[in-house]
Amino acid sequence: MRRPFLLRGIRPYGAGDPVDLLVRDGVIAELGTGLDGTGAEVLDGGGLVALPGLVDLHAHLREPGREDAETIATGSAAAALGGYTAVFAMANTDPVADTAVVVEHVYRRGREVGLVDVHPVGAVSSGLRGERLAELGAMAASVAAVRMFSDDGMCVHDSLLMRRALEYTRGLGGVIAQHAEDPRLTAGAQAHEGEIAARLGLAGWPAAAEESIVARDCLLARDAAAALHVCHVSTAGTVEVLRWAKERGIRVSAEVTPHHLLLTDERLAGYDPVNKVNPPLRTAADTRALRAALAEGIVDCVATDHAPHAAQDKDCEWSAARPGMLGLQTALSVVMATMVRPGLLDWRGVARVMSERPARIGGATEQGRPIAVGQPATVVLVDPDATWTVRGATLASLADNTPYEGMELPGRVVATLLRGEITTEDGKVQR
Ligand code: DOR
Repeated sequence: MRRPFLLRGIRPYGAGDPVDLLVRDGVIAELGTGLDGTGAEVLDGGGLVALPGLVDLHAHLREPGREDAETIATGSAAAALGGYTAVFAMANTDPVADTAVVVEHVYRRGREVGLVDVHPVGAVSSGLRGERLAELGAMAASVAAVRMFSDDGMCVHDSLLMRRALEYTRGLGGVIAQHAEDPRLTAGAQAHEGEIAARLGLAGWPAAAEESIVARDCLLARDAAAALHVCHVSTAGTVEVLRWAKERGIRVSAEVTPHHLLLTDERLAGYDPVNKVNPPLRTAADTRALRAALAEGIVDCVATDHAPHAAQDKDCEWSAARPGMLGLQTALSVVMATMVRPGLLDWRGVARVMSERPARIGGATEQGRPIAVGQPATVVLVDPDATWTVRGATLASLADNTPYEGMELPGRVVATLLRGEITTEDGKVQR
């Protein structure tokens, strides 16, 4: 444990005059102006915005099985540099995280690396095959204490299996995170079904393939009185389904990715597979609806769907390329560009949608805590005035499939603290 340190002049939630924050034994020991730094290492906070450490409900860390694309170590480093202190690692690994043994492995490896809390997501169905339930109870009872289950990458499309999964997880105090995609409607799909896909000659992925599954699942969650979480909401129509369900008290939460807030299918014109993602980039009207829904709370939180891919799986022709894009190191800047700069969210709101709500949805009780005396020193320091240019080759991920290559983005994570340990760079607060 490092010796006590004093951060001078930070602005919690970006509001009010700068204050000092003293960290002792991993906990926020004091918070106030003009604190005495005797015996502590003193770091200049220079007016940086302080937020609770970010929590990502949706990342693909690829270990075990595709350590050529990402590992728990490289993914954790990317997360810490992006301001995250906890990451939920999706189950579509090889082997699939559908047993206690695999989730325990992911959990332990995450602890060993120690840069973020890695929470393994358990598969809903054995082998992600959508046929029979995986060992949900055993995964929940394991040291990994799994609370979120998902077949992400695949939709749990069998209605009866989904019903049983919801009923079962209710008993476990867990949540089913659904990748909403009716596979019959998206067979062979390559891009959002609309004008651009038609012009480019790409098979379409209709909005109804997402919206119909979300509607069905909301009804199943209602009947089971269970918690449903909708992954990567991508259409304006899904927002309306969620509004309907929430107005009726159905226990549904939802996430939106940074790329669905910023990018549209206009990007597909050059057939660059870096823009291929599932669900696909949609229209400008959809991005507008998603931003408004996040501001309003119909969509609860931001999750990255960080999906690293090895070069041979991505640098190929459009139809053969795997869907997915990097997200962990750029998410906060994209949220700044799409939500903070246009005045849709203030920093309090960013803390809500990138830390507090995802922590609550995923059951990560040590995360998303207020910046207050006695709480874990699990915070991120952000320079809101800085800008940076994204270069895939310099990101911490093993893969470099960022759609933001060469783009100048606002806001820079200066340091991330997990229970008082600085997880970024060399332990110095750098501007
Ligand atoms: O684009 C995506 N990539 N969407 C998914 O649902 C899965 C993910 C992956 O695992 O690459």
